[in-house]
Amino acid sequence: MALLETRGLTKRFAGLVAVSDVNLSIETGEIRGIIGPNGAGKTTLFNLISGALKVSSGSITFDGAKVSGKRPSHIARAGLVRTFQRNAMFPSYSVLENVILSRHTEVKSNFFQTIFGTGHEEEAHRERAREIIRFLELDEHENDLAENLSHGHQRILGIANALATEPKLIMLDEPVAGMNPTETRMVTDHIRRLRDEWNMTVVLVEHDMRTVMGTCEYISVINFGELLMEGTPDQVANDKRVIEAYLGSDDYDL
Ligand SMILES: Nc1ncnc2c1ncn2[C@@H]1O[C@H](COP(=O)(O)OP(=O)(O)OP(=O)(O)O)[C@@H](O)[C@H]1O
Ligand SMILES: [Mg+2]
Repeated sequence: MALLETRGLTKRFAGLVAVSDVNLSIETGEIRGIIGPNGAGKTTLFNLISGALKVSSGSITFDGAKVSGKRPSHIARAGLVRTFQRNAMFPSYSVLENVILSRHTEVKSNFFQTIFGTGHEEEAHRERAREIIRFLELDEHENDLAENLSHGHQRILGIANALATEPKLIMLDEPVAGMNPTETRMVTDHIRRLRDEWNMTVVLVEHDMRTVMGTCEYISVINFGELLMEGTPDQVANDKRVIEAYLGSDDYDL
């Protein structure tokens, strides 16, 4: 059974169908790309899956349970998280504090107890937070304030904060947007290692075609809210319908 499945997923805004009858099936351990021209409905799709937006019709199943209609916090506890466009959750806290605090977003724990506490449980959280930070190669910056990090490192901290909730599946919203080539390579490396070493399932919405084509084994193309086609990077790049959908949008280079 697929880890994440949508059936007939539809979102209507006044006078507009932003997501239309989308059937997606994503297996454990996949790195799935979701692409499509501007306004195709990719972000809306993410918002539906993470519970930030209510579905108009259709259903979403995650890890064997129906999650459509559930609150984002419930969905996150089930192991499905997304990163946000915004950079860091707690700008005036350190990298380590950010990841520790993110582990507690579901647990009602005193803010300061969380950071300065010395209980066994707190120690375990801190150790796991350090592990996540090391994995994403942020350990040099462990004590830097989030707001003082470079753009690239702030985005990576966003991934660390998402990992802090111990997800099975992580949805990344344009993770390399605004990054230079070195930062981009760093992030695509992390994405692959997340899957290979931590058995994470990754769903990636990304405008940068080189990143999508080089990182994902399988890609779903959305156009006007509908699933246009799915295939390997090669199949997608050579598909007439995909090329047509992208004609006239000059930030794509298939
Ligand atoms: N809250 C909303 N209310 C009304 N219309 C919306 C809302 N959110 C998105 N839309 C519309 O739904 C369509 C899909 O938008 P969406 O942001 O999902 O596209 P996208 O594929 O993420 O585009 P981009 O690549 O530019 O980020 C667009 O026409 C957008 O204007
Ligand atoms: Mg978008």
